[in-house]
Amino acid sequence: MASPSSYSSSVLCFLAYCFLELFAVSTLAAAPRRPVNVPFQKNYVPTWAYDHIKSFNGGNEIQLHLDKYTGTGFQSRGSYLFGHFSMQIKMVPRDSAGTVTAFYLSSQNSEHDEIDFEFLGNRTGEPYILQTNVFTGGKGDREQRIYLWFDPTKAYHSYSVLWNMYQIVFFVDDIPIRVFKNSKDLGVRYPFNQPMKLYSSLWNADDWATRGGLEKTNWANAPFIASYRGFHIDGCEASAEAKFCATQGRRWWDQKEFRDIDSYQYRRLSWVRRRWTIYNYCQDRSRYPTMPPECRRDRDL
Ligand SMILES: *[C@@H]1O[C@H](CO)[C@@H](O)[C@H](O)[C@H]1NC(C)=O
Repeated sequence: MASPSSYSSSVLCFLAYCFLELFAVSTLAAAPRRPVNVPFQKNYVPTWAYDHIKSFNGGNEIQLHLDKYTGTGFQSRGSYLFGHFSMQIKMVPRDSAGTVTAFYLSSQNSEHDEIDFEFLGNRTGEPYILQTNVFTGGKGDREQRIYLWFDPTKAYHSYSVLWNMYQIVFFVDDIPIRVFKNSKDLGVRYPFNQPMKLYSSLWNADDWATRGGLEKTNWANAPFIASYRGFHIDGCEASAEAKFCATQGRRWWDQKEFRDIDSYQYRRLSWVRRRWTIYNYCQDRSRYPTMPPECRRDRDL
């Protein structure tokens, strides 16, 4: 049984904890929570070509291998409706032309929702392209493309998605590179009732990936290797058929400060727009003579 003194010290601890919590919330503003480290097998399973996935350090780090026979990929065990989904990746180094490394969320039905990061490799010393896309109700064709401000093959960087009822934000490290606002009021479908799994894969796409398919994969350089770590998943787990999440509205990503990006994040995003963007479907007049409705919000960013 607890003595009175140990009781009061635990109250004190509790108060100190509250203080720390308040402090953390106010200093972090709207930065997503940092993921903790868990091994691959806790949250993920291989999707195909199991022998092309190598595990290190008890599964805290894995590699995907692509050779001329096959690429490979993995997927989350669970399905999720909203959350913050992050992965640390070190892209295929040196001559990666023709290869694509993808990290994405997707629902499993025909009118599917999907949130994509695709990293298009390049010749040694030439820049990768990061292409993002959003599918809602089976409709995609919303590509944006950027160059990165660092060499993604030299070190691990985190690529993450914040997804709640209000917005989908793509982050590279802590910098927002894209925001897809809920534009239901403009008649645009928004992912809100179909749980998604996380997927990642490495494959050969030399028919389109590098300089529009001009640069082919050089198999003399195989295997091509992408490295991963950071397998924590911070989402509301739901069965694949669920239409809502049991804890919806009560998780950190549902709170007010995550309904929009803050002013610091706006400045970072506009820096990405100015300095690093190479393609934005919202500005492609030949492809879209009439601007897609959600682009009205994209323009305000
Ligand atoms: C590859 O490098 C070329 C030349 O610098 C560049 O035009 C292209 O955008 C780069 N990235 C890809 C994926 O093609």
